[in-house]
Formats: sequence, structure tokens, C-alpha cells
Amino acid sequence: MKAEIQDHTKALEVLKEYKTQDGLDVDTLLDSDKHGALTYNDFLILPGYIGFAASEIALDSPITKRITLKAPLVSSPMDTVTEHNMAIHMALLGGLGVIHHNCSPEDQAEMVRKVKRYENGFISDPVVLSPTATVADAKELKAKWGFGGFPVTENGTLRSKLIGIITTRDIQFHPNPEDPVTAVMATDLVTAPAGTTLAEANDVLRSSKKGKLPIVDENGNLISLLSRSDLMKNLHYPLASKLPDSKQLICAASIGTRDEDKHRLQLLVNAGLDIVILDSSQGNSIYQIEMLKWVKETFPKLDVIAGNVVTREQAASLIAAGADGLRIGMGSGSACITQEVMAVGRPQALAVRRVAQFASRFGVPCIADGGIQNIGHIVKGLAMGASTIMMGGLLAGTSESPGEYFVSSEGQLVKAYRGMGSIAAMEDKKAGKGGKDSKASNAGTARYFSEKDRVLVAQGVAGSVLDRGSITKFVPYLITGVQHSLQDIGVRSIDALHEGVDNGTVRFEVRSASAMAEGNVHGLHSYDKKLYV
Ligand code: IMP
Repeated sequence: MKAEIQDHTKALEVLKEYKTQDGLDVDTLLDSDKHGALTYNDFLILPGYIGFAASEIALDSPITKRITLKAPLVSSPMDTVTEHNMAIHMALLGGLGVIHHNCSPEDQAEMVRKVKRYENGFISDPVVLSPTATVADAKELKAKWGFGGFPVTENGTLRSKLIGIITTRDIQFHPNPEDPVTAVMATDLVTAPAGTTLAEANDVLRSSKKGKLPIVDENGNLISLLSRSDLMKNLHYPLASKLPDSKQLICAASIGTRDEDKHRLQLLVNAGLDIVILDSSQGNSIYQIEMLKWVKETFPKLDVIAGNVVTREQAASLIAAGADGLRIGMGSGSACITQEVMAVGRPQALAVRRVAQFASRFGVPCIADGGIQNIGHIVKGLAMGASTIMMGGLLAGTSESPGEYFVSSEGQLVKAYRGMGSIAAMEDKKAGKGGKDSKASNAGTARYFSEKDRVLVAQGVAGSVLDRGSITKFVPYLITGVQHSLQDIGVRSIDALHEGVDNGTVRFEVRSASAMAEGNVHGLHSYDKKLYV
């Protein structure tokens, strides 16, 4: 080959002779006249320049106008995905879990309470026992709350004189469950006075080697509690989602748009809710707009995410009604048959771009909801303008989702996953059964059917997903994978990704069917697709 240019040091200069950067800008990519409406698998992002380590990439991103997460990952409000356990662990890992509402308002509020209590510096609302409580009572409370150290006070309430502490060790092998807790509780208490700072209290806890440190006023009345396991958790979860002045995890939950959802929301707010998602498959409705306005008026401190939407017009209605965030997606969910049955929806990549681009003009962050099967899809959702990514099926197989694992007919370990518009989920709603782990009654999501409907039209299916282990490993894998992807693209943050896409420096390519085959494993006789250790 005969070289046209001999001086290789001129390569960067010669590059400038080209009028456009290699690849397509986002508008050309998404020009539906040229390529049809695209979704995640239909395109790739071109690599940029790596000038930094992947670990330097910050993934902070807003979920509402007020609240920013350290990891842009959210679990769906579905009864096979998010109850308190998922919500707690998503928040500990820097994301957020949205507690579903296919259960009674009381059960949902109880789950919110569990999230808000889970990790605290000072537990300002500890579970307290009275001297007449029995060992059996303490065991029952341990089973209910998942922790086992309870202070005992004279009246069995906070702000009453502290007389002892009962721990798991005291009750675990105690032979007589009917004995009062006073017979087994520890009374050699190490306490700290009111006004102790968190740092001082942590020091006392460390040196005392006790599991719990009660904080008492000058009369010995219990006013709060500090827990060693919380101290450990604080150390182990540096990304945990918390508001700046709070030690509690951020909690989100979904509700419907019926009148009775107002009562439900009141209970959730009383339990400490920070963000509510108005859960409709088609959010641009009079019901949602009226509910949105009511929520903003009634609970001005509560952030409201509205949706779902897939068009600018839908987004505009909800932004005008006061939405603090939007949820984008119609028909892209893995258990969803909406597009097939209703003929309504939009390919997700285009939907995210159109809505997020419009909403960003008002500073309203968007969640790309549904259709996420791998890290690449997360990055593509972010590249289209989403600030956070919501996942259902991808998280349903983790040990933190509701329900038990079972062995499929092919001998694989699986967990149930079902669309909230599946006949099974809708029938549970009608029968008032609700979530798998909650003892729900009077359930009520109205996302896919109206009470007056005599015929249920399914918009989802019920099935199962493969075991994915714990999200305490899976979510860090997703986070690290996103960091590596952004490094390949050459951007240091999600903001920088958005900026690069908007100004045309982040480039794309449409993917043909054979390009897609090329991009996946091919030509191997057999292989093992282990994704992380
Ligand atoms: P996935 O992550 O692809 O499994 O999608 C999860 C999303 O699917 C949820 O957050 C909902 O927006 C959506 N979804 C849940 N249930 C249904 C349904 O029954 N029909 C249609 N969409 C659903």
C-alpha cells in the first residue's frame, strides 16, 4: 500500500479535514424516516478516548428535581420485584427500590417503615418492650423486624425509664417462652447521655463491645438507640442513598390514581415516604393529573414521579401538573404484551430520547423503565437522556426479591416474575391477595384494569426468571460495568454522557441484524457465559 501522507505526526491534523466526526449524531441515529423507530438493540455507541480510570467515574444522577442517587439504578414497583428487602438493599447499594402497591395500604406502609428504620445513626423510633412482655413476644418481634435487640422500659414505650436490654442471645435457647423478658434481659447497661454526637456514640459502642447503645436523658428515660450492626453497615455501604441531613435510607413507593389511593398515600407519608410514583401504564390522563396536583398541594415535601409516558406531549401535561420526575416506557417490559394487545407504545430508545430531551429543559429527571437485559442496555438508556434506569425482570431473580426460589421443569433454580397486568396479578388484586411476601388484603393497583371492568384484558404475562444470587453482588457488577462502558465512550460522568450526546461528540451507529449476530457470541461449539465473580 502506498501511503498518501508520509508524516504520521500529522494524523490528528489530517483528521480535521473531515467535515463530520465518524459515526452518527443522536438525531441522525434516531431519524425514524431513515431507520424506523429504534430500541436499545438497534444501535451501538462508538468508543471515544480513555484518559482516566474507570473507578474515577462518578455515577451520581438525579431521580427527582430534589433527590440524587449515587447509582442510577431503580427496582420496579412490582409484586415479584420490590418489597422492603429489595428496597433496603437497593438503597444501601446507592440505588432505589420502589415498593409495589399490590397489597393493602397498611402492609405497604409497614414496608416503608421497615426501610426507613433499617439503617440509622440513632434509631429515633426503636421497638421497645414492656416488662410484662414474654420471651415468645420477643422472638415474634425478631421474626417480624429481622433484628433482635430490644430495649425494655418501665412502660414499654420510648421516653420511659430504661430497665434492660434483651438480645437474640438471651432468648434464642431459653427453654420457657412464657417467661417475662425481665427474667433473661441484660441489666448491666452501657448508655450514653442525650446530646451525644454520632461520632462519640460510635466510639462508646466500639469500646463497650455491646451490640446496642441506648441513649438516655438525665432521668434515665430511653430516647433513642444506636446499633453496632448499623455502624458496620454504614462502613460497608458508602454509596447508600440518604438525604443530606438524614441517616435513614431514602424510600420510594408507588400508588394508583384512584380516590382511595389518597388514604394509602397518607399512611405511606406517615411511615416516612420520600418519593411517590404514580403508577399508570399510560400516565397522560385526567386521573393522574388530578392526583398529581392533589399530592403536590397536600404533601409539598414529597417528591412525585409521574408516568408512564413515551411522547413529548404526554410529558408536557405531567410536567405542567408539577411532576418532579418522569418514568418512561410503554410496552418494553420483559413481561409485557401491551404493544401486541393494545397496539400502543413506542420503541424504548426513541421514547427515552424524545421525553428526556424535552423534560431536561425543565430540569425534570427521567427514569428509563423496562427492557433492560444487560449493562449495555443501561448505558444506552442513559445515553438517550435518562438519568436513572428501572429494572424488573433483571432483578426479580435475586435473593432480595419477594418469594421463594423453586426448581423449574428443566431443573434450574428460578423465581416467579409476573407483569402487573398479567391475569394472575390482576386476579390477586381483585381478590385482595396482593404481594407474595405481604399478608395483603384489599389490594389495589389500578395500573391495568378498572374496577368496573368485567373482562380482564391482560397486558402482561406470568412466568419465572433464573436465579441471579444476591443484589449485593449483582448491583456492584452493574455499577462497575457501567463505569467501564462510560470509560470506553470517554466520558467521566452521566452528566458528561448527556452533554456529549447533546453536542454530538458522543457518536452512534445503527446495527444491522448481522451486526447484532456479530456482536454476540458466535461460532463456538459450547461456552459458559459467566458474567461476574
Ligand atoms: P423489565 O425490566 O423489562 O422486566 O420491565 C419492568 C417494567 O415493565 C415495569 O417497571 C413496568 O413499567 C412494566 N410492566 C410491569 N408489569 C407489566 C405488565 O403487565 N404489562 C406491561 N408492562 C408491565
